[in-house]
Amino acid sequence: MPLDPTPIPDELRGLRVAVLVSGGIAAYKIVDLASALTQAGCEVRVAMTPSAMRFVGPPTFAGVTGRPVLTGMWSADASPEPHVFLGDWAQLILVAPATANVIGRIASGRSDDIVTATLLAARSPVVVAPAMNDAMWAKAAVQENVTVLRKRGITIVEPESGHLASGHEGAGRLAGSAALLNAMVHAARSRYDLAGRRVVVTAGGTREPIDPVRFISNYSSGKMGFALAAAAADRGAKVTLVTTANHPQHHGIAVQRVDTAEEMQAELRSQLRGADLLLMAAAVGDFRPAHLADRKIRREETPSLSLELAPIPDLVASLASDPELDGVFRVGFAAEDSELDAKAVEKMKRKGLQGIVANDISRRDIGFGSEYNAGVLLFADGSRHELEKATKREMADKILDKVLPKLKK
Ligand code: C5P
Repeated sequence: MPLDPTPIPDELRGLRVAVLVSGGIAAYKIVDLASALTQAGCEVRVAMTPSAMRFVGPPTFAGVTGRPVLTGMWSADASPEPHVFLGDWAQLILVAPATANVIGRIASGRSDDIVTATLLAARSPVVVAPAMNDAMWAKAAVQENVTVLRKRGITIVEPESGHLASGHEGAGRLAGSAALLNAMVHAARSRYDLAGRRVVVTAGGTREPIDPVRFISNYSSGKMGFALAAAAADRGAKVTLVTTANHPQHHGIAVQRVDTAEEMQAELRSQLRGADLLLMAAAVGDFRPAHLADRKIRREETPSLSLELAPIPDLVASLASDPELDGVFRVGFAAEDSELDAKAVEKMKRKGLQGIVANDISRRDIGFGSEYNAGVLLFADGSRHELEKATKREMADKILDKVLPKLKK
């Protein structure tokens, strides 16, 4: 099977791929595939069963992928729970070669080695490529197990017919690299419609210091921005979250912590080069203290205090005049208490946005700090989509569904 000449499809580039290797002679062919995927820009991590290591040494896979190989449930180099780490990390899993034994063990829900345990902990699409002797492949036990896997949504890449290592001719040879890659693209496509895209999301309310211990901010929790970042990352995008709020770690999101609008602006300018999409969910302040006290303002020394405030320039509007950011599709967020559509359309024009989400903050059941949101999504081309009340994560996916077709090819 000549693996090298097969080009890696664009849809796989940038994905985090776990390659789970079980103990068949065809394991050596997967070295080439792991190498080609890595060279094409995938992040590849390999896990091996003990029998797989009889055929290929872990250093070979470590060498071609540039990452340590998981060789057992107790190899703690990646995490104390390597199977959970790998299952969480992977955006796509390939089990190849898959022996009759590993197929049976997957079908029966076993989890007593790194390969089967990772599959149980997985959240991603799974492709299984069987390879074995023709008589083994033909056995009812194996075929029934394969049927179970298919029913559970696993993609099976049928083995090919031809010369087998046992000397026999028949069906059981590991499918060629083109077939494996095709199946991987198919499995990935449904889930990763933002693969290859760079998305920048802002979240939280900006904080403008009054003195070293106090600041002016707003009630924004950053939950909508984080939901957007998580949804985009789960759909395969490379995501940068520029945020004032702290949120749980999520694979595929690079977090840039900022406080002030000025810091957010500087971060945006550097992160947006080459990005496809900006989702500006942050509640950027409109005013900041005109002067920053360099030490804590003390009540004993300050009988009364008035703060002079200066306007904060509109960050997203200023991006519109940067020709280098022309290719970035920019979506703003507006909190409105009345005439949602009219106000949002006016804002979209004034800020040079291609889209805007208007939230109805007159409703008590949604918005700031809530897990829920609702509103309307408007585009500069005049299209309009009602966003019914939903969790912020559900709303994030709906917004991405509508934005995706509008991104430059
Ligand atoms: O004008 P308003 O604050 O309602 O607009 C909200 C949208 O504009 C949000 O996307 C917000 O992130 C952005 N904005 C900004 N810079 C500001 C104020 C708001 O980019 N100074």
